[in-house]
Amino acid sequence: MRIQIINGPNLNLLGIREPEIYGKRAWEDYLKDLRNRYRDIRIDYFQSNLEGEIINMIQEVGFDRDGIVLNAGAYTHTSIAILDAIKSVSTPTVEVHISNVHQREEFRRHSVISPACMGVICGFGLDSYTLAVQAIINKVANDAEEE
Ligand code: DQA
Repeated sequence: MRIQIINGPNLNLLGIREPEIYGKRAWEDYLKDLRNRYRDIRIDYFQSNLEGEIINMIQEVGFDRDGIVLNAGAYTHTSIAILDAIKSVSTPTVEVHISNVHQREEFRRHSVISPACMGVICGFGLDSYTLAVQAIINKVANDAEEE
């Protein structure tokens, strides 16, 4: 099983950026723990601050991975191009947010990408990614059972 995590703009600053909202933990430290927890699964990671690079990555991995875990950052609220990219591929995407976007500014309450996603997980800190990985594993197991 192979899962792709994609982080969008400003998420390269996790641990430094607004720690009261996004926490103090460095991403690399969290990712190491996540990979240790799911040793049987290959978890690839990509981050970009650029919309086009996120789209390129969705297209690149979107036909042969078991799932994409996507935190599109602020593009979540604006990017029809990312919405279209998610729709264009066959791999299911789980939308993730570290913070509970519904408790924050009004403009964060709307996601343009959610309609194309398998589900949305938000508000659990970095654990949101763990929950998304688990959701993909559960889906793969359920799909296999149905076959
Ligand atoms: C975020 C929430 C977005 O509104 C914000 O622009 C981010 C991070 C989150 O993980 O909570 O960059 O996606």
